[in-house]
Amino acid sequence: MKKLIFLCALLLLQTACKQEKPIVLADENKRGLIVENAMVVTAREEASKIGSAILEQGGNAFDAMVGTELALAVAYPYAGNLGGGGFMVYRNTIGAIGGLDYREKAPLASTKDMYLDENGDFIPNKSTLGAMAVGIPGTIAGVFAVHKKFGTLPIETILQPVIDLAKRGVVVTYKQEERIAKYQPAFLKANKDSIIFNKNWKANDTIKYPVLANTLERIMANGRDEFYKGETAERLVRFMKDNGGIMTIDDLSKYEAQWRTPVVFEYDDLRVISMSPPSSGGVCLAQIMKMIEPYDLSQYGHNATKTIQVITEAERRAYADRSFYLGDPDFVDIPGDKLISDSYLEGRMSNFSFEKATRSSDVSHGEVQIVESNETTHYSIIDQFGNAISVTTTLNGAYGSKLYCSDLGFFLNNEMDDFSSKPGVPNMFGLIGAEANSIAPEKRMLSSMTPTIVEKNGELLMSVGTPGGSTIITSVLQTILNVHEFNMTMQEAVNAPRFHHQWLPDLVMFEPNSFDRKVINSLQQLGYQTNEENSPVIGKVDGILVLKDGKLEGGADRRGDDTAIGF
Ligand code: GLY
Repeated sequence: MKKLIFLCALLLLQTACKQEKPIVLADENKRGLIVENAMVVTAREEASKIGSAILEQGGNAFDAMVGTELALAVAYPYAGNLGGGGFMVYRNTIGAIGGLDYREKAPLASTKDMYLDENGDFIPNKSTLGAMAVGIPGTIAGVFAVHKKFGTLPIETILQPVIDLAKRGVVVTYKQEERIAKYQPAFLKANKDSIIFNKNWKANDTIKYPVLANTLERIMANGRDEFYKGETAERLVRFMKDNGGIMTIDDLSKYEAQWRTPVVFEYDDLRVISMSPPSSGGVCLAQIMKMIEPYDLSQYGHNATKTIQVITEAERRAYADRSFYLGDPDFVDIPGDKLISDSYLEGRMSNFSFEKATRSSDVSHGEVQIVESNETTHYSIIDQFGNAISVTTTLNGAYGSKLYCSDLGFFLNNEMDDFSSKPGVPNMFGLIGAEANSIAPEKRMLSSMTPTIVEKNGELLMSVGTPGGSTIITSVLQTILNVHEFNMTMQEAVNAPRFHHQWLPDLVMFEPNSFDRKVINSLQQLGYQTNEENSPVIGKVDGILVLKDGKLEGGADRRGDDTAIGF
């Protein structure tokens, strides 16, 4: 009853404030926010609000992308960034598609063995903590490339609200309080001086970011070159050098974001558009979906034994290929078409049987293991014109390398750890990589980020993605299947418990206390090793679904502080 009174009060308040906008409040479990025209879903309400306000002013999804990305750098420094990179997939109002790669690059002075000691042994922490872990950031190049190609509003109109947010400050959430406390020791280790986060920040405190506001003001005044060639570049390089890094002004001035052709494939009457290398997301998602397409998952049932078997076996086979073949397409030849061809994938599932789990040791390429960090962030935007974008951006680890440039107001990534530093030897996340993803100057490290757009019968259906390291791909997969095979709403699809298998370790990971015990027991009897302890969160999915009547439904993952805003 209390909840009902609260909901009514909230509804009245909303109606009073915005009388002309019919907003349907989210039913906590069944439906996300439903709006008529346009929507932004991100990891923080402040960023969703800024993106949505840009759309309300007449901006398009690309304008909103610029504002949202930078608002996340202010409101969600855990993964939102100026010092990292990401990927964007779009489908515009006439159905044209594309992808943007603003992934970090290895510095010019980097070498294949830079994280190995004189005995060829991996040096702990060097690729994850502090200045040596940092790749050349791509985010500012990315947002300016998007604005140049598709933006309609002046950059000042887009950036001013972000700068205002940084000056006004952001209220700490309970989840953020926990995260800041957890990483105190790492902040102290990575930084010579104390940083803004070395404080006992509590939920409901407000953190102001005046230095970041100044940096954004210079970028607003001088454009992308401020970050790559201007005063900001010089101050960043000085800071990196002072902290023992190898980034130079040459590295920054040579950085360019790259437009890429997305991976596109069909599944039933869906057309799926996802990110191409140097992200493994699109290829891996295509492999898995094409391997499971012949099986009648809706008949087996959601999270039923047979459904989990089919998906697990397809994941096992796709992840076995992933690290062996994939890397930066500017450096390695990737047999992309072959990897997602029907003939190849039919053969891959030929030794699968419902009677018994396949063993990962029986699946080639059996020498690579993938475990990545979870601390990325995703946002989806659909505008009132019908443009859709799907963006995943990251610092890699939580707060990246933990190295915070107090002079400029942002964290630097530790994306160099996504390279395979020593083929065959696990890094701190247990990652064992292959030659295709070895370090070279100016090369981009392999990613799992899977920003994805789905069409149904030629019409826009969904924009979806998630953080979660190697679990990104399987969380995006399950969310699409939840809507398509199991008729869930967007919010139900996001809420539904998820599982994950990535070939090695040969383990099906389940969200704890979420799956039917009988199902887990029957999987164990079939020879599957299961783990429910070490996977408290498998992704934080944010998505938007176009409903049959043309309205938009947001799915904002309640595993985080994620919020959908629209009109
Ligand atoms: N750093 C995580 C990823 O790129 O997948």
